[in-house]
Amino acid sequence: MNKPASLSAHAHSAKVIVCRDATAASRTVANMIVAAVNAKPSIVLGLATGGTPTATYANIVEDFRAGKVQFKDVTSFNLDEYIGLSGTHPQSFRYFMQSELFDHIDIDPNNTFVPEGGASDPASHAIQYEAQIAAAGGIDLQLLGIGHNGHIAFNEPGSLPSTRTRVVELTPSTIEKNARFFASVDEVPKTAITMGIGTILEAKQILLLATGKGKAEAVRRSLQEAASEEVPASWLEQHPDVTFVLDEDAASELSL
Ligand code: GLP
Repeated sequence: MNKPASLSAHAHSAKVIVCRDATAASRTVANMIVAAVNAKPSIVLGLATGGTPTATYANIVEDFRAGKVQFKDVTSFNLDEYIGLSGTHPQSFRYFMQSELFDHIDIDPNNTFVPEGGASDPASHAIQYEAQIAAAGGIDLQLLGIGHNGHIAFNEPGSLPSTRTRVVELTPSTIEKNARFFASVDEVPKTAITMGIGTILEAKQILLLATGKGKAEAVRRSLQEAASEEVPASWLEQHPDVTFVLDEDAASELSL
């Protein structure tokens, strides 16, 4: 049974839902996204990659196949992409989104946006990407994961709330964590294009999904310490409508 939780210690406006396990947490987030799409069929979704949202995308595909939701009028913007990987590269986030979600639902491919890892001028492309989000009317519902060091998208420690979509350098710990998706750590790109913290904070609603003990410290610091550039996810406290959906392991360090 999902438990809405109230935080003690640090006053953070985020809603916190603690689910029994990762399966329940993923299903909870899928239900929230499907409900949002049914409430506004032309919704603009912000989407995330990484291992954590995979089960949520599988739940959404299941609901689509069951006729519970349609995506034909939906627009989506992904958070980030590795520089140097084209969209057909199996480790690119574009490829991940195609194989985990887009290829299995009725979303119009022209309405799915992922930063171009193969762009000849990544910095200019990042500015264009920001303009495309604005041209779509901004993001209604942004799905986020969280890195072990508290990064959101590829906004690594040191990122300020004023940041926009840009080229960033990845930290050694993020490269090491993401190496599990590559043949070797040497193949992990060192730079990426990412939405900024400021870009993310402009979304109307934010849903952060975190599961597993490995995320417990980042979650605690994001929700129960004063916001700082050390923990980029802590800047979410500035947003009026954030929900953290956690499994019990990811919530294990919270003082509730
Ligand atoms: C990557 C992505 C983030 C994601 C994070 C955690 O660095 N850029 O958007 O939240 O990894 O991923 P995982 O869910 O695999 O732990």
